[in-house]
Amino acid sequence: MSAQSLDGRAVADAIAERVAERVAALAVAPRLVFIRVGEDPASASYVRSKQRLAKRVGLRAETLVLAAETDQATLMIRVREIVADDDVDGVLVQLPLPDHLDEGPVLEAIDPDKDVDGFHAVNVGRLWSGQPGLVPCTPLGLEAICDHYQIALHGQRVVIVGRSNLVGKPAAALLLRRHATVTLAHSRTRDLGGLVAEADVVIAAVGRAGIVTGSMVRPGAAVLDVGMSRVDGRIVGDVAPDVWDVAGAVTPMPGGTGLVTVAMVVQNTVTAAERRRTTAR
Ligand code: GUN
Repeated sequence: MSAQSLDGRAVADAIAERVAERVAALAVAPRLVFIRVGEDPASASYVRSKQRLAKRVGLRAETLVLAAETDQATLMIRVREIVADDDVDGVLVQLPLPDHLDEGPVLEAIDPDKDVDGFHAVNVGRLWSGQPGLVPCTPLGLEAICDHYQIALHGQRVVIVGRSNLVGKPAAALLLRRHATVTLAHSRTRDLGGLVAEADVVIAAVGRAGIVTGSMVRPGAAVLDVGMSRVDGRIVGDVAPDVWDVAGAVTPMPGGTGLVTVAMVVQNTVTAAERRRTTAR
């Protein structure tokens, strides 16, 4: 294990400190509402950690928990009510929703300017076309980790493994904006190892334990692990343990990218609030 550990806590703390200063500069604390449906323990735990950090940086934050059997129409009404409240600056519907609910219309019901997840189609379009908008938190966190640890992106080869709307696709758009040469690969990519071997920066975001192995990685590369799976009761990432013997730097799991994602939720909320308060409406 020779790679440097890219500690997510240090990055998250630095971001939280800057966000707290921005919150303190506002006359009224931004208000963030989380919406969670059902009792999935992982979702409940994520929302708790987001709300805890929100409060730590001085936001007003609350969580609406709806019963697992809530129907689509009821959920839509509740989301629209919260979005319409002028006192609310940010809204986040925790995913995944229970199987009987369709997340598409729910995400589109969020005002793009309050969409702290950056999942609304308007924000997707803004990101890809280079307009200011709200950008998904995990990709923002990956960028922040690179900046914090001075991992170059400009002109570098970045291979992203995973093409989700939450991580892979927006990370590609964001890192293109930083002048990286981006390849978007996935679980069905032919010769994944050959592609990963070209990368200066590897982002592993498939959700398949150990899909990126030490034999794929170029010595000295930076490897950022977004995957999270439970194997034999343990939380493991998409990066196999032998990557640490080859790479120059790796995010640990846990303690890596996830903590920075949470920090980006509060950063997006203060950004949304600042913009709403300086825009004549
Ligand atoms: N579930 C897993 N990651 C996320 C995320 O970034 N945002 C939301 N809303 N739900 C998630």
